[in-house]
This record gives sequence, structure tokens and C-alpha cells, in this order.
Amino acid sequence: MTVTPVQEQPPLQRTPLLRTSLHAGIVDPEMDSMRLLSETAMKFPEALSFSSGAPYDGNHDLANLSHYVERYLRHLRDQGVPEQRITRLLFQYGPVNGFIQDEVARMLRHDEGIEVSAESIMITHGFQEATLVALRGLFASPDDVLLSVSPAYVGIRGAARMLDIPVKGIVEGPNGLEPEAVAAAARAVRATGKRPRALYLVPDFSNPSGTVVPLEARQRLLEVAADEGLTILEDNPYGLFARDGEKMPTLKSLDTRGDVIYLGSFAKSAFPGARLGYLVADQEVTGEDGSRRTLAQELSKAKAMFSVGSSSLSQAAIGGILVENDYDLTSATRELAAVYQERLAASLDALAEHFPPERYAEHQVRWNVPRGGFFLTVEVGFEADLAAMERSARDFGVSWAPMSMFYLDGGGDRALRLGFSNLTPAAIREGIARLARFIESEAGA
Ligand SMILES: Cc1ncc(COP(=O)(O)O)c(C=O)c1O
Repeated sequence: MTVTPVQEQPPLQRTPLLRTSLHAGIVDPEMDSMRLLSETAMKFPEALSFSSGAPYDGNHDLANLSHYVERYLRHLRDQGVPEQRITRLLFQYGPVNGFIQDEVARMLRHDEGIEVSAESIMITHGFQEATLVALRGLFASPDDVLLSVSPAYVGIRGAARMLDIPVKGIVEGPNGLEPEAVAAAARAVRATGKRPRALYLVPDFSNPSGTVVPLEARQRLLEVAADEGLTILEDNPYGLFARDGEKMPTLKSLDTRGDVIYLGSFAKSAFPGARLGYLVADQEVTGEDGSRRTLAQELSKAKAMFSVGSSSLSQAAIGGILVENDYDLTSATRELAAVYQERLAASLDALAEHFPPERYAEHQVRWNVPRGGFFLTVEVGFEADLAAMERSARDFGVSWAPMSMFYLDGGGDRALRLGFSNLTPAAIREGIARLARFIESEAGA
């Protein structure tokens, strides 16, 4: 047999691709800030990390995954769903808006006092996809502007950036977003010829600041939204972790006009690896032919093009958690809420021990006192940027997040965020002792 020699190929001439030729959402260094933060923190694995908001993972047990999926399948069988349909539901492409909306509606009624039909709910890949879908649907013109609390969770700025939606930040006060500041921002946007279209906020234990909007301000925010023609995007991943008796009504439960879209996540109430969340949009949309559908149904066109549907396995696991707990995530997360409350208290006690208020002139450290959530903010007397965080992690063994990363229009240069959710009280005490040594050395420098 004769073997033909392989012809030598000329070297590949790849066309150079400049990063600057890509979409602004990819090019903008701000969009990379969370990755840089976690990479910097990960360079120092020995450091105690206050830099993320990862939930407590001490209860995670692999055996639970199959248990919850089985629990959901049993629930379907108990309802008389034929075996063949169950198999198809799990293995095939499923309905775009998901298949656990009934269970989520029952949970919302129980936990949040939100009364909506299953047709008003879309199951999504976490809060993040819910936001992308809601923004895509609402923002129809390049003149539409998103108003957002500032400092804000990076996911909202990123989602808006990816969709080329302009954002105007409204700096919050000690009690979160102030309604009159929202009204002023809406007027300011309108004065430039643009339209304030929606308002994003986290009324309960905001990320990064841990603030809670008081009840009166919630009612006033709804009035401002009605007056200014704003749709409120209410993001609520931490509301369940309030102290007993302190849980506030969500804006959605107070919304009588249909001005609120509620964005939910199972990342903190169940587990983030499921990547599951949901959107509640019960607004009625009238078509040109007079047809009427909920906004969640209308928005399924966006969801179909972003992700086709949400994972059936994740829906089954989360559905199983809801069924097993009788649609009562408040009770199901009581122990977890106590864990977070203990960690918050340990953080506040350690800060008070190391930075006595009577010696403020010396250390220049001040912090807020949230009543729940995963985060608190600390003001310091020096620039707390990523380079400072790296010095802190490398030389003192403690990492945190620069607050400036969360401000939309500048600010927070001398402040840091402490995320205490995934550190034990002992690690928190040690971490804050290390932070105190770092702060002392920066002050000396
Ligand atoms: C304010 C806020 N919203 C939403 C989320 C969760 O989003 P997802 O469901 O996409 O994990 C987080 C998590 O860090 C958050 O802090």
C-alpha cells in the first residue's frame, strides 16, 4: 500500500480581533470589576474573605438534591399526572415560562402576601435573567432611562449595560432609597428630554449597604412611581432573613396599580447552583386585536430568545423544596436566618471592640448597623480601592470589597463592604482583628 505524504499546510493567518471592536459591555473595565475582585481574593486563599455574598454552605448535602427532585416527582404523581408526561416534562424542552409557577404562586402568597396567578409568573435563570427579560421588555426607546439606587448590586448595572440602557444612579440615604430623591431624579431626566422608564431597588437589606426602606417610604415610593410613570423593579433576595417580627411588606404586596415587577431569586432561600429565580409581572397587556395577556406571558418572547426555558432539573429540585416545606420558605429558612443574624451580630460586636467610637479621630472608622441581610459597609480614612484590598489580603490575610465598585456615578472611595454570610463567628472575629491591623497600618502609611 502506498501512503500519500500529507501536504504541509501554510500557517494559519488569523484575523486580529481587537477587544475595543466588541460591544461596550465587554470592553468597559467596570464590567470586569467583580471578576477582578474575586481573582484578587483567590490569589490569597489563606485570607479570610469578606469579599463575596456567597450564602452559608454548611447545610449543603448532595443527598438532598435527588431527594428534592424525587419529592417533586411524587407531587406530580399525587396530582395524577401520567408517568409519560412526567418523563417528557423532565427530559424534553419545556414551557418557556417554566412549570413550577403554581408552586411559586403559593409560596408568594404565604411568604410575601403577594396574590398573583401562575400566569403572572415566569421562572428564570436566577434574578439575573429575570432582570434582562424585564429590562428588554420595558425599554422600547433609546431615550428610556433606568433609575437605580446607588450604590447598587453589580448585576443591575451589568444587565443594563449589556442592553445599552442608560442608567441614572440615585444615592441612597441611611434608610435606603428616598422617595423625594426618586421624584427629583425623574424630573431631572425628563428635563434632558429623556424618559425615566423604571426604577430598580432592593428595599430589604440591600446589597451592598444592608439598608431597609421603611414602610412609609415604601408607600410614598409607590405614589412617586404612579406620578412619574415609573415601573418599579423590586429585587428581594434577602427579605426572608429579617429578625422575627421585623419583616416588611414587599412593594409588590402593597402595589394596587400594577406598577411593580417583582424579581425573585432562589439563590439565597434555596441554593445558588440551581440558578433559578422568577419574575412576577401581573400587568395586563392588551394586543392590537383586543387580546389580553399578562406581562409575564408577553415577556416570554424575550425569555425564549435568551434561554429557551429554565432547567427542568433545577425546577424539579426547587419545586421539591417548595412542596416539602408546604410553600413556606419563611419557616424553612428560620435556622438559616438565625445563622446570618448571629454572623451580623458577631461582625458588629467585633467592629465595636476594635474601633471604639471615642477614638474615632484616631482610626476614622465608622460603619452602618443593618438589621439583617448579608452585608454591612465600613467607612475608612484612606482610599479603599482594589490595590488596598490586595495589600489587605496579601499582608494581613483579610479580603473585602471596595464600595466604589457599587456606585453608579462615582463615590464610595473611602468605604468597603463586608460580606459576612459565609464566615463563622470565630472567623469573623479573627477577620475583623486582621482588618483592624490593616487599617492601622494604612493610617500609619
Ligand atoms: C441584590 C441581589 N439581587 C440578586 C442576587 C441573586 O441573583 P441570582 O438569582 O442571579 O443569583 C444577588 C446575589 O448576590 C443580590 O445581591
